[in-house]
Amino acid sequence: MNILIVYGTRHGWTQKTAENLDDILRNQYNYKVEVTDYKISKEIKVNMPNYDLVIAGSSIVMGFWKRGVKRFLNKYKKHLRNVAIYVTAGGTLDDVTKGTLTKEEAIQKAKTKYIIPVKNKLGISTIADGVFGGQYGKEPKILFNNWNKEDIKNWAAELDKKLKK
Ligand SMILES: Cc1cc2nc3c(=O)[nH]c(=O)nc-3n(C[C@H](O)[C@H](O)[C@H](O)COP(=O)(O)O)c2cc1C
Repeated sequence: MNILIVYGTRHGWTQKTAENLDDILRNQYNYKVEVTDYKISKEIKVNMPNYDLVIAGSSIVMGFWKRGVKRFLNKYKKHLRNVAIYVTAGGTLDDVTKGTLTKEEAIQKAKTKYIIPVKNKLGISTIADGVFGGQYGKEPKILFNNWNKEDIKNWAAELDKKLKK
């Protein structure tokens, strides 16, 4: 089965998640995977019906997606067989570290704020939605880093299960 991962990043963590998903889906579950920045996907001829799953990942900064990822979904939505969306919402997950939300609550909050409205607007449904951490600030002033490989592994397992149903 073929999977395409298209991501849009500002600080690199959405890309890191895409690369980890690629590694896990390829090596652990034997999928054929292609990973591309949405900027490059504009230039390559993307043959959508060939993909059993298209995963779209966006960085969230000030509440906003990378617009190009949404444009990508909008452009190809009629040709997509299965779609999964993930967002890098480090700020929302930081509430877990602060103790103001449980992890489940933070994930639900990020889905409600950043994923569900986009799906509704574009009129698409997904087989899975993911919320992952990222980083705020740079060395030597990193305010937080909640990027977590385990969450990505779990999501890859969920995707595999849905695809093999
Ligand atoms: C200026 C700024 C604004 C941010 N705003 C949000 C936000 O509105 N919601 C959120 O969950 N995370 C927010 N974050 C955290 C980002 O999700 C985190 O930095 C993530 O790594 C961004 O993804 P990227 O590294 O792929 O660009 C913000 C980060 C920065 C630097």
